[in-house]
Amino acid sequence: MRLFVPRDAAARAVGADRVAAALAAEGERTGQVLEIVRTGSRGLFWLEPMVEIETPSGRIGFGPVTPADVPSLFAAGFGASHPLHLGRPEELPFLKRQTRITFARCGIVDPLSLADYCAHGGGRGLERAWSLGPAKIIDEVTKSGLRGRGGAGFPTGIKWKTVADAAADRKYIVCNTDEGDSGTYADRMILEGDPFLLIEGMAIAGLAVGATKGYVYIRSEYPDAVRVMEQAVALARGDGMIGGELRFDIEVRVGAGAYVCGEETSLLESLEGKRGQVRAKPPLPAHKGLFGRPTVINNLISLATVPAILADGAEHYATLGMGRSRGTMPIQLAGNVKYAGLFEAAFGLSLGEIVEDIGGGTRTGRPIRAVQVGGPLGAYFPRALFNTPFDYEAFAARDGLIGHGGVVVFDDTVDMARQARFAFEFCAIESCGKCTPCRLGSRRGVETMDKVIRGERVEANLALIEDLCQTLKFGSLCALGGFTPYPVASAIKHFPEDFNRPRLAAA
Ligand code: NAI
Ligand code: SF4
Repeated sequence: MRLFVPRDAAARAVGADRVAAALAAEGERTGQVLEIVRTGSRGLFWLEPMVEIETPSGRIGFGPVTPADVPSLFAAGFGASHPLHLGRPEELPFLKRQTRITFARCGIVDPLSLADYCAHGGGRGLERAWSLGPAKIIDEVTKSGLRGRGGAGFPTGIKWKTVADAAADRKYIVCNTDEGDSGTYADRMILEGDPFLLIEGMAIAGLAVGATKGYVYIRSEYPDAVRVMEQAVALARGDGMIGGELRFDIEVRVGAGAYVCGEETSLLESLEGKRGQVRAKPPLPAHKGLFGRPTVINNLISLATVPAILADGAEHYATLGMGRSRGTMPIQLAGNVKYAGLFEAAFGLSLGEIVEDIGGGTRTGRPIRAVQVGGPLGAYFPRALFNTPFDYEAFAARDGLIGHGGVVVFDDTVDMARQARFAFEFCAIESCGKCTPCRLGSRRGVETMDKVIRGERVEANLALIEDLCQTLKFGSLCALGGFTPYPVASAIKHFPEDFNRPRLAAA
């Protein structure tokens, strides 16, 4: 009997290891020969730990499974009569509606089996890249319309061409996996569930721009991901997927827990062994990046999407999406939402469809009041803007950003004045301290918002906040200070009633 149990950190957090142990013990007790494959997660978190069994007609899922359910699963022969029977996972509406390109294998394969990776279509992108050569690889990536999935949405092909065209004795590929946005976990899921995909994407990038070394910078809060990635790199090296003929090797580096190290220049400083402080741009990393050499620094999802683009052709990817947002985006549903999980879809779904239809509304059953998109520096969207399509430009036109695809849902009990205060507080805690508007302005923002919350001279203090937001927006060196006004201003604009009401307790 072949069973599949996720080893993804989210599944482990709700007991996947205990369930795997209970399955092994029950198998032994009942004298059945079991093979338990630890996979990544399919991303349906409300069903974790989800156990799947291999049958002649495909895999059948059960979830959420606890160790106490295990004897009854065996007694029912893992059949349809069991109350946790889900049927074929691919037929569950949450998965069926998706267009899985980057996450095609995640939750299905053994993340540390290269044979499984190749059996499920892995490696075809790199193979084609070899046959195309650098210029045509870059053409393909450009034609696909792929844009930076870290949040800024810069065209990946143009970035790669800039590095390819730069003359230097050494070039680098850096994968930014300092996934610090609230409600985001797409990078982590790939690291833990399909790490060879990232290795393949980085190898293709190396081939395209002439880089010989790649670094995967992973946040320290992801210990499982670090372990899996390190093992995957060793396996890929042993197999010759990297190193050898390709002359491209990869090293995994662990961050030290600073949000600002997700900013590319700060990350490069950290990789060089220095304090993670932002560098002024220009020079762009593409010209002068890691150790002063031309560097491709991309978010994990950008790099992990390249193999599919190369394998199936740019046109296929470019047909998906809307406007200038081509292809798919892994939307990560989090917060107070009924169906929290990863939903990969072509750009263009409306925010309302995402949170109400796909997400199923709130977990508490109360009405949705606000949705924050794009991490802690993203704007809060009210119901009145739920018709906004998930697209870089459409969100920007409404003073928002899609960022790395994090969608955090709040019900009608949320206090938006406290959320605005939180934005300033977050900025104050995470500021690298290099520039004054961010370092000091964020602290003044917390104090001023406290006065608003206490009901002190509300109008004058809100005017001060507006002034402060302008200073932060235009006077900050990086997005941390520069984007903090988005959550603050959107909360004030769309939920003004929360900024002028009596409260029982001050912040
Ligand atoms: P940016 O707009 O300055 O740059 C975007 C990317 O394009 C960078 O890699 C930059 O080096 C590159 N680039 C720009 N012009 C170029 C050119 N002519 N040639 C080659 N490369 C070029 O944006 P920045 O400051 O790097 O990132 C801000 C974004 O980061 C925000 O949109 C925000 O959504 C996102 N963000 C993501 C977080 C996460 O956890 N993923 C956390 C915080 C912010
Ligand atoms: Fe550092 Fe803040 Fe300035 Fe960014 S905006 S460089 S985090 S002080």
